[in-house]
Amino acid sequence: MRIVSGMRPTGKLHLGHYFGVLKKWIELQKNNDCLFFVADWHALSTGYEDKLNLKALGRELIKDWLAAGIDPRHSTIFIQSAVKEHAELYVVLNMITPLGWLERNPTYKDQLEQIEHKQINTAGFLTYPVLQTSDIILYNADAVPIGEDQRPHLEIAREIVRRFHHLFECKIFKEPEEMLTNTSRLPGLDGRKMSKSYNNAIYLSDTPEEIWQKLRTAKTDPQRVRRNDPGNPDVCLVFDYHKALTEDAIVQKIDADCRCAAIGCVDCKKICARSIDQLLEPMRERRKKLDDRQIDAIIESGNEAARNEAAKTMEQVNGAVFEISCKSREDSP
Ligand code: TRP
Ligand code: SF4
Repeated sequence: MRIVSGMRPTGKLHLGHYFGVLKKWIELQKNNDCLFFVADWHALSTGYEDKLNLKALGRELIKDWLAAGIDPRHSTIFIQSAVKEHAELYVVLNMITPLGWLERNPTYKDQLEQIEHKQINTAGFLTYPVLQTSDIILYNADAVPIGEDQRPHLEIAREIVRRFHHLFECKIFKEPEEMLTNTSRLPGLDGRKMSKSYNNAIYLSDTPEEIWQKLRTAKTDPQRVRRNDPGNPDVCLVFDYHKALTEDAIVQKIDADCRCAAIGCVDCKKICARSIDQLLEPMRERRKKLDDRQIDAIIESGNEAARNEAAKTMEQVNGAVFEISCKSREDSP
């Protein structure tokens, strides 16, 4: 299957990103034709006032991907803004997308309410799903791994595809399917969603010392005041981490031992820290070996491969839109 997915370059990745999306990407790349890209134009939709160095942030994001195990021999890695066809198709799709579809988008409405400190009543923010549709259909994706909040965007993408086919009487695109990534997402150290802005994240690039300092002070079962008090792992954040990271047999033992106070929280957290380090250690090793020239080369060849694909699609699109001519992919040489 052709798989396409992107992330906005908003800073270093944490365990929430890993268990939310990245782990799925890494699995998918083995048996599928994957394109993963840095959605830097999308980052502007909420970040245009922030004077971000999106180029540097994009490179950092790709370093996190490579460290985590995205393999450029299997996957195409590229930068959205380096492939101008994303913008070209976005212009065409904007012409045919009814405003109502965008205004009714639940993710849009939620974000308008939640993001108070930013001026996001812009055309770009409203049409975010149109650009996302371009990202996906430029490469004729079969499936798109996304989180729950992105489902309405995929729905809009399918609607835009159908409308394009109907209006230009030319069937060029697949209707992309959503591929829901792990919804049991890992909470942050304070129990809220893991996020940089809450200051509750464990980063893929954290050192073992940093991780221990973060875990050491994390809250556990509030009923467990003294070492001898029995605990309830079901209400303990550390236990959520164990379930995601620690070997099953050990998780079961911790579950039982916590309930009868056979294990203390400090020891339990030490096991947890070790589990996190076991996940991150291979990433640290791979990160050490990454050098700038190599990353440049990966990005350049990814951009090039993406441009080739995108240009073919745009030829068909422009034929249908400007010449009332419909060539299906199979006909083209
Ligand atoms: N909107 C996605 C997010 O915030 C990022 C994204 C942009 C994307 N274009 C995409 C994801 C295309 C999948 C496919 O998570
Ligand atoms: Fe949480 Fe572990 Fe302490 Fe139980 S022993 S309350 S699971 S940290």
